Amino acid sequence: MRYINNDLKDKTILITGGAGFIGSNLAFYFQKNHPDANVVVLDSFRSGETLSNGNLKSFGHFKNLIGFRGEIISGDINDKDLLLNLEVNYKFDYIFHEAAISDTTALEQDLMIKTNVNAYKDLLNLAIVHNANMIYASSAATYGNAESPQTVGRESPQNVYGFSKLSMDNISREYMKNSSISIVGLRYFNVYGKNEFFKNRTASMILQFGHQLLSGKNPRLFEGSNKILRDFVYIEDIIQANIKAMEPKKSGIYNVGTGKARSFQDIVDILQKELKTNFSCEYIPNPFVGSYQFHTKADIEITKWALNYEPAYSMEDGIKAYGPEIVKVYEEEVK
Ligand SMILES: NC(=O)c1ccc[n+]([C@@H]2O[C@H](COP(=O)([O-])OP(=O)(O)OC[C@H]3O[C@@H](n4cnc5c(N)ncnc54)[C@H](O)[C@@H]3O)[C@@H](O)[C@H]2O)c1
Repeated sequence: MRYINNDLKDKTILITGGAGFIGSNLAFYFQKNHPDANVVVLDSFRSGETLSNGNLKSFGHFKNLIGFRGEIISGDINDKDLLLNLEVNYKFDYIFHEAAISDTTALEQDLMIKTNVNAYKDLLNLAIVHNANMIYASSAATYGNAESPQTVGRESPQNVYGFSKLSMDNISREYMKNSSISIVGLRYFNVYGKNEFFKNRTASMILQFGHQLLSGKNPRLFEGSNKILRDFVYIEDIIQANIKAMEPKKSGIYNVGTGKARSFQDIVDILQKELKTNFSCEYIPNPFVGSYQFHTKADIEITKWALNYEPAYSMEDGIKAYGPEIVKVYEEEVK
């Protein structure tokens, strides 16, 4: 579905992190709905290099871009020469900035701040030189254990990832004061959908439970999972918010969720229905008690006003739409 009237003919769009989950979905959105736009994907792609927690440093994967016909650049947003090259040799009209250390459990504070905060500032400067509107990924992790519903202005990050995203928002607010481009930070809540498989252990619990069920395993949930609630948002609504953020009523930092809190137990129950399985759940003690978000629910009132954003997918709708893809990825990559 196309979310703006402008056909974007001859517009040039940069998507950083375009080989990742959300970035690749954006790339395909433009290819399908705005075929006369020029889309440039920049991503560092995976190299096998890992962080101290054992997860990959970058999750970008060529398979997320199979069928994409735009330009693809393999490069690091921390590379100043690359950014200069982009500044001199391109003229972007819009920048969608998705590249980041997206692993919320990463412990490398130096790399996190450099990649998520410092490189973002360089990209903002590039956006200003090009007069390109900036749409970037912030996160619900900025809220940490702040009370629910999470509202912009009441942040309390509990890890360096959340801190890095809040720092991006702070920089953005400074730039919003006197720049002619629009700058929109989107605080995604828990996103799920196509092309998340290559995030490995950091993929959504919707995909992970789906694959547990398909492999014939009893789903393993934390005790009290009916009381652990999150705002899970389907990728299509994330795309909607990004595209509408190209023409915001006002620059700003906006939550992107469904405005509803759903439990981990709900996920498994809905998945069992969609995948036609009937396994009994196993409950294990929650080792994260004290450091875990137990209730997230995005306050989306301002987002609705500023972006004309209206979430279209309940968790039932999202899992129904995603179900065939969960099965396909299982058949192709896991089995
Ligand atoms: N998926 C979610 O639930 C969620 C929630 C809140 C915020 N976010 C944010 O949304 C954005 C996209 O997340 P995602 O889920 O698609 O994650 P992802 O890891 O799939 O995508 C991020 C991409 O950035 C690339 N990248 C990492 N470091 C880079 C670097 N130095 N230079 C160039 N590219 C680099 C990776 O290779 C990867 O392809 C991220 O900024 C993430 O922090 C995601």
